[in-house]
Amino acid sequence: MEQTIIPTFDVPLMPILIAPHARLKAKARAVGKTDDDAVRGIIPRMFATMYTAPGIGLAAPQVDLGLRLLVIDLMPDNKPRPITMINPEIIGLSTELAVREEGCLSLPNMYAEVTRPARVKVRYLDQLGAKQEIEAENLLSACIQHEIDHLDGVLFVDHLSVLKRNMIMRKLAKEQKLKR
Ligand code: NI
Repeated sequence: MEQTIIPTFDVPLMPILIAPHARLKAKARAVGKTDDDAVRGIIPRMFATMYTAPGIGLAAPQVDLGLRLLVIDLMPDNKPRPITMINPEIIGLSTELAVREEGCLSLPNMYAEVTRPARVKVRYLDQLGAKQEIEAENLLSACIQHEIDHLDGVLFVDHLSVLKRNMIMRKLAKEQKLKR
């Protein structure tokens, strides 16, 4: 089997917030010109934090930053393919829906099937500030929608019934208590 090469960065990792947390429920603000230096420093740290977790996506609010910034890497064919999205905007969603099991680094060990539009079209700025537009389906579509949700203070459990959400949040609280 081919070995997975995880990119490493010589940067400090960032602590990941665990739900429930006020930052995870807050709407993040757009990244502006004055954020350039900060964002340049944050992006490698977010990737390092995500790869180490390990996870396939991480949004800035999860590391206590209220900025519209997220990183994704699905590692297709076990090779790194990092995607950085600054100020992502959903410009199209399919009417066709898809169900997929989701998890979240802010809800460790919790998983549930989430229904979302099957395909998404997004406009964003990449790490160099260049305008990009992509259309995604399957796992990448769900991942992009999940991460953009974080920028609006929405977690995957918010797409579930109140009953299921409460069940997961109780289970998470219990596990977190045992960890301490
Ligand atoms: Ni998440």
